[in-house]
Amino acid sequence: MFEIAPSILSADFTRLGEDIRQIEAGGASVLHFDVMDGRFVPNITIGLPVLKSVRKATELTIDCHLMIVEPNRYAVEFVKAGANMVSVHVEADVHLQRTLTAIREAGGQAGIAINPATPLVALEEALPYADFVLIMSVNPGFGGQKFIPTSIDKVRRLRRMIDERGLATRIEIDGGIDADNIKEIVEAGAEIIVAGSAVFGEGKPEESVKKLIDAGSVWV
Ligand code: DX5
Ligand code: ZN
Repeated sequence: MFEIAPSILSADFTRLGEDIRQIEAGGASVLHFDVMDGRFVPNITIGLPVLKSVRKATELTIDCHLMIVEPNRYAVEFVKAGANMVSVHVEADVHLQRTLTAIREAGGQAGIAINPATPLVALEEALPYADFVLIMSVNPGFGGQKFIPTSIDKVRRLRRMIDERGLATRIEIDGGIDADNIKEIVEAGAEIIVAGSAVFGEGKPEESVKKLIDAGSVWV
């Protein structure tokens, strides 16, 4: 089983409510919300005020991906503003275990996000404190980038690490995913599949979500 998490970074912000209704109708269950600060990544996007509005507009699970420096300063604020899931980058937080614990104590699901060039060993010790791991399959900063193929093996190795340790941690993957590569990614062990341009790029989000669900369904 896998879930599609459309990234609203690629949505049309002048009609965000309508785009959200379309992804709901298509069968998406998670809304991926990319927060960028222009420091951890070379781009600036959306933050707490937009999250509060989106929270009022949908019942979907809201998944905030914090691509910001010092995420410990803001992670709990995102839970309070309505995020169900909050991920912080292992590269950005020297006290990761503390931040994950704070997210959980605030009532959120805590996630560790990890860049393509960062080895899995960097998150090993913090794994029991995370509800999910977000494997970046592009360098974060922009939608529409090309999938980095070594990410598939990284998902497999993480799957093994989680299973060997008997943990319930879920694996999310983000960047460059479309109908052509989703199946291999799901087979490798990813359960939450983020997609931005593959959902919103053609202007038919409902259809595009359905297409991804079909393409990723390994049992057909
Ligand atoms: C990239 C963001 C992604 C992005 C995915 O830094 O974290 O969530 O929106 O977009 P696509 O699916 O177009 O790669
Ligand atoms: Zn993201």
